[in-house]
Amino acid sequence: MPMFNETNWQPAPETLTLLESEVHLFRVNLEQPRWAVNKMSACLSTEEDERADRFHFQRDRRRFTISRGVLRAVIGRYLERSPASIRFSYGEQGKPELAPAMGGTPLQFNVAHSHELALIAITAGAAVGVDLERIRELDDASAIAERYFSPRESAIFGQLPEDEQEAAFFNCWTRKEAFIKAIGEGLSFPLADFDVAFVPGEPARLLSIQNDAAEARQWSLQALVPWSGYTGAVAVRSRRCRLQQWHWPAEQTP
Ligand SMILES: CC(C)(COP(=O)(O)OP(=O)(O)OC[C@H]1O[C@@H](n2cnc3c(N)ncnc32)[C@H](O)[C@@H]1OP(=O)(O)O)[C@@H](O)C(=O)NCCC(=O)NCCS
Repeated sequence: MPMFNETNWQPAPETLTLLESEVHLFRVNLEQPRWAVNKMSACLSTEEDERADRFHFQRDRRRFTISRGVLRAVIGRYLERSPASIRFSYGEQGKPELAPAMGGTPLQFNVAHSHELALIAITAGAAVGVDLERIRELDDASAIAERYFSPRESAIFGQLPEDEQEAAFFNCWTRKEAFIKAIGEGLSFPLADFDVAFVPGEPARLLSIQNDAAEARQWSLQALVPWSGYTGAVAVRSRRCRLQQWHWPAEQTP
């Protein structure tokens, strides 16, 4: 699959049709005017309102409200329901999903946010996970790689030229995290137990999952460049997957 970049993101169309082999990705600018925050706030559940109130900083409260509000609006478009009527339930490790009360729709989704940007991934039924990180200088990248990457990944990382390490680190991090989020197990699934391809220039791919290359082949992993200075990845349990990328609202980016 091709490497996607900023220019591949188009304004979201009014009517969204999701095919079985597709992943729809929405890039969301979380910095929105007050009227938009108020509008989104009005469609949140009591529980989400309470969660928003628990954020210490107003900025985080605003960003959470936009992220949840847009998630509700996006799902509402697919299901032809109002954003406020969407009900979520949560997996054992906190992964949000559509509640059984929504009538058993197969729609799957996942959300990631970093600073002022969020990504929402939607599939017609395949397990999906998305991750997003703002690229930044890290003093302890090697120590983190040694601690969290698999032995194979850590060995490859250690041999990379210094000028490739930052990109490689965030490639590996976001690809691993996207997979972990797709299976919904959070950090209860050992990060060292699966391998991803992450060397800059190398296509994103799951190489093995607990030494099972056949299971890894059931997955598609795709690198994303949602905005300059950010890197992301989406993991889908499907051998074939076509990505459609939109931004929401139509004309706004960070
Ligand atoms: C729960 C976890 C998904 C949080 O990830 P994060 O990087 O802090 O945050 P992200 O922005 O990527 O994702 C947060 C969103 O994921 C979703 N989420 C929460 N728990 C989840 C889970 N168990 N599985 C999948 N998605 C989950 C939620 O929608 C959440 O957003 P919301 O609370 O606003 O609705 C988890 O994987 C984690 O704690 N990771 C730690 C990071 C780490 O050490 N990574 C090492 C990589 S080498």
